[in-house]
Amino acid sequence: MKKTVLVSGGAGFIGSHVTVELCQAGYDVVIADNMSNCDETNYKGVCAILGRQLPFEKVDFCDVAATKALFAKYHIDALIHFAAFKAVGESVEQPLMYYKNNLDSFLNVLEEARIHGANVLFSSSATVYGEPDQTPVTETSPRKPATSPYGNTKQICEDFLRDCVQAYGMHGIALRYFNPIGAHPSALIGELPRGIPNNLVPFITQTAIGKRECLNIFGDDYPTPDGTCLRDYIDITDLAKAHVCAVTRMLEGKMDEPYEIFNVGTGRPVSVLELVNSFERVNGIKLNYRIAPRRPGDVTAVWADPTLARKKLGWKAVRSVDETLASAWAWEKRLAEAAK
Ligand code: WQD
Repeated sequence: MKKTVLVSGGAGFIGSHVTVELCQAGYDVVIADNMSNCDETNYKGVCAILGRQLPFEKVDFCDVAATKALFAKYHIDALIHFAAFKAVGESVEQPLMYYKNNLDSFLNVLEEARIHGANVLFSSSATVYGEPDQTPVTETSPRKPATSPYGNTKQICEDFLRDCVQAYGMHGIALRYFNPIGAHPSALIGELPRGIPNNLVPFITQTAIGKRECLNIFGDDYPTPDGTCLRDYIDITDLAKAHVCAVTRMLEGKMDEPYEIFNVGTGRPVSVLELVNSFERVNGIKLNYRIAPRRPGDVTAVWADPTLARKKLGWKAVRSVDETLASAWAWEKRLAEAAK
């Protein structure tokens, strides 16, 4: 009997890539999204990749009745929760909007998961580590006080899941992503930033395609080899496969503890300048960029120790930064074609 996974926020960047990998691994998937932060591009792309229509439900998970109805309509064996606002800067300007949306929606799905006995996989973030005292960070590295309401909602939701597991006998996994980048090799799904991209790689590709005049590199005076910040950039398809491993671990009863946390990263620190230079080399493009002042809130260096995910999930990142940057560029070119 095939197991059914509900992917909340499944029309988004990470949700759509995870949906493809889940289906190709033999799971049935229900995509639910309120479409507040994306259009149908990725949902259509997912159906094109899979060669079939997937069940799609337009649901705002802040709506208790709608969330309840969704769980009554489908038998959900596991839920992967992506549905949340995720712009760090916007969360600083509008904390109430972020706390209400990100916390209410997760509380509603947790209540239904409790009632229906569904396993819960939560989309967390390396942002919970803040500026780590030591790198690489492991899952036992301390969480630091959040530097944004967005980051705080990730920490609070991890604690929601932990406490529900302890109180109600549920099973849950939190995956702490580092920096997801790239697009599906088919170039049919990818990142769809709304407005001016906050993140580095979509700003790079939009500069390369001519949508942006110049890339600002926020600071080259950090205490790092080339002065720019270090991050752990993980290919979106590698990241998506980690979700399949985590869902399978829960559904096959292989967990060591009822609540587990895993870092999902490559374990390889890459600087901003290294990424820019790799993009130029791989794609044969000269990028227009300049050194700009530091961006407030940026951490100098954070990257993963991915040992635990390798040992327990049987997962490791396999795609190279070069392959990922080529996929990001192919996606940007496809978006430009579609916009003509
Ligand atoms: C990476 C590096 C910037 C843009 C954030 C969130 C995290 C997750 C991923 C949601 C930094 C530099 C960036 C630009 C630049 N989001 N940069 N010019 O800040 O590491 O992480 O996105 O889950 O939770 O915190 O990612 O891509 O914004 O920045 O120089 O135009 O690129 O200074 O050093 P970040 P990022």
